[in-house]
Amino acid sequence: EGGGVEGPFVGAIDDGTTSARFIIFRAGTDDIVCYHQIEIPSIFAKEGWCEQDPKVIVSTVNECIVGACKKLKQLGGQVKDIVAVGITNQRESTVVWDRNTGETLANAIIWLDNRTTSTVEELLETIPNNARNINYLRPLCGLPLSPYFSGVKLRWLRDNVPTVRKAMESGDAMFGTIDTWLMYNLTGAQNGGVHKTDVTNASRTMLMNIETLQWDDNLLKFFGLPRKILPEICSSAEHFGDIFDGVLKGVPITADLGDQQAALVGQQCLAKGQAKATYGTGCFLLYNTGPSIVHSQHGLLTTVGYQLGRKSAPYYALEGSVSIAGAAFNWLKDNIGLIQNWGQIEPMAQTVDNSLDVYFVPAFNGLYAPYWNQDARGVICGLSEETTSEHIVRATLEAVCFQVRDILDSMHKDCKIPLAKLMVDGGMTVNQLFLQLQSDLVGIHVLRAKISETTALGAAMAAYKVVEPRFNMEAPLSKSGPREPITPTINSHERDLRYKKWKMAIERSLNWET
Ligand code: G3P
Repeated sequence: EGGGVEGPFVGAIDDGTTSARFIIFRAGTDDIVCYHQIEIPSIFAKEGWCEQDPKVIVSTVNECIVGACKKLKQLGGQVKDIVAVGITNQRESTVVWDRNTGETLANAIIWLDNRTTSTVEELLETIPNNARNINYLRPLCGLPLSPYFSGVKLRWLRDNVPTVRKAMESGDAMFGTIDTWLMYNLTGAQNGGVHKTDVTNASRTMLMNIETLQWDDNLLKFFGLPRKILPEICSSAEHFGDIFDGVLKGVPITADLGDQQAALVGQQCLAKGQAKATYGTGCFLLYNTGPSIVHSQHGLLTTVGYQLGRKSAPYYALEGSVSIAGAAFNWLKDNIGLIQNWGQIEPMAQTVDNSLDVYFVPAFNGLYAPYWNQDARGVICGLSEETTSEHIVRATLEAVCFQVRDILDSMHKDCKIPLAKLMVDGGMTVNQLFLQLQSDLVGIHVLRAKISETTALGAAMAAYKVVEPRFNMEAPLSKSGPREPITPTINSHERDLRYKKWKMAIERSLNWET
């Protein structure tokens, strides 16, 4: 007795694109007591396709829970002191299962999957007056028509998988994003499992009305999808259900947020005008617009940031999504062999003073914000006899920074106020050179999060707030002091010159076929 870690604790399930993890926090702090993480393989059945086995996602999450709880016990902590669990997840990825058997009717179509390019084409054809306007549904759902979102993926499943179509017609199908699928299984699946989602995840489907925060008949009609397969939309922080069995049997699930929204909460960007960027597979920049909806005129998404309780006001965000950020380095590693591991990136990029005018647009699956062009493809331009691997690695870092500038320029135009500082987190932010480049190429103060797991932290904070209403989410969570900002070291003339060349590279990426 004594000496062990003491509760209360809060657990966060974080199912990302490449791995799942269960993280145990000391309640109300950013102190990670222990965690367990396991990679989840993607299945690439055809060019442009990306799937995962939903059953593997559930079993992997369960394994992470068991693993982390074991570590908690080894540290002298008690599992019964985990007072609540929050769920956060890769967004948009789409699962359909049978409500009678709980069996999946297809693999999960992962957000990155591009098979629905033709579905988008078909849907564009149905827009009145031959307008083919990708922004046609924006006033209703805040999103442009793109292969990225769940509604389009669900429509593809309806059209291409006969068992899904049949189950949709008979009402036997259940649809969910990953949060919904996990929650359904954790709360008992066939034994009374709940069929719920939250406003942030629902705001990525194209099926939810961004104002009423309910499924919208006009949107459902546009996509040809039945209402009865959809989960109940809840706030992001409330009692969703209790864990049905296993080590956490009986523990309440009290938060559900899409991972990028959870990171917004974890970074404590809880006031209008605050913004964060998370650099993972892709890069997602969210700007808190408060309780008001800002409809972007410049290619950003309008999304729900969070709604912390049924009676609380929803907070909205403008989002700039970049599909390829860290993934560009995996491409350099796995497809080109230019690097062997991520540890080489910073030292290699540091051996050169600049990228020698090399510009790399990693538009492998088209370009997301602010371009929303599914036909764009990757280009590397400006190569000369002097170009080395080091220059290309540096240009790849800069590519991520320039994509963030594209987004911040749109945000500035939409909101009129330039952003003074950007909170950052995610895998790439361990790279100091990268942070400096980000600050230089945008001309902004960059503040790195104290812990890298801001996504899980946001879910844990929201979950704790439900069981401990006195918890102040805006108070400092860390024992360590404030963060040191990274400030720009180049002047605006040089910055704009470089950005002009980036835009020229973007032109080539958008028009590579012509
Ligand atoms: O929209 C996709 C996003 O939620 C995926 O995030 O961190 O799993 O790559 P991540």
